[in-house]
Amino acid sequence: MRVVVATGNAGKVREIAEALGGLGWQLEGLGGLPLPEETGTTYEENAALKACAAAVTRGLPALADDSGLEVAALNGQPGVYSARFGNRASDTERNLYLLEKLRGAADRRARFVSVVILAYPDGHLETYRGELTGTLLEGPRGENGFGYDPLFVPDGETRTLAEMTVAEKRAISHRGRALAALIEAHRNGPPAREEAGGE
Ligand code: IMP
Repeated sequence: MRVVVATGNAGKVREIAEALGGLGWQLEGLGGLPLPEETGTTYEENAALKACAAAVTRGLPALADDSGLEVAALNGQPGVYSARFGNRASDTERNLYLLEKLRGAADRRARFVSVVILAYPDGHLETYRGELTGTLLEGPRGENGFGYDPLFVPDGETRTLAEMTVAEKRAISHRGRALAALIEAHRNGPPAREEAGGE
């Protein structure tokens, strides 16, 4: 099956392509297609906006992830707004901004959430969700990954996500878990659709 990966984030493309290798799908990039603005207030809404736009425009199933970091001491912020936290322009600046906000905070718990949506050109959606809990360091460590990875140590680990390989991160990460659920659902071809309505 040809599937468009509806994201402009190179880190996500890498992780999605690596995770879905076994499905035998032909993954395609956006091909210059602009993504819609993320105007939703939930991961589900934003993932659906991106996946549907690509599916309809390209006439192919399209996959999108919307994800974020929820910090306990910040009442769950930045959440769906993680990509533009503090209006900072780069991963490095956003990490510094987060460290500033957490300076002196004893509670450094956080979780990553990923919602992966596979949208079909006829409007049908499949939704998969994954989470990863951990703690935030007081300074960055590691060069791999993207986003907040250098600050985040998953529960039960000593390394940050940025000190892991793509495969190691996938085995435990929020996106890896959401994608594993998608792979499981597609093991024997596209999953049966539930009847809509029923009344
Ligand atoms: P969006 O899903 O494109 O709105 O962006 C999600 C943002 O959350 C990213 O730009 C990162 O800042 C952060 N994020 C999501 N997943 C990860 C991850 O696996 N590692 C580090 N940061 C992440």
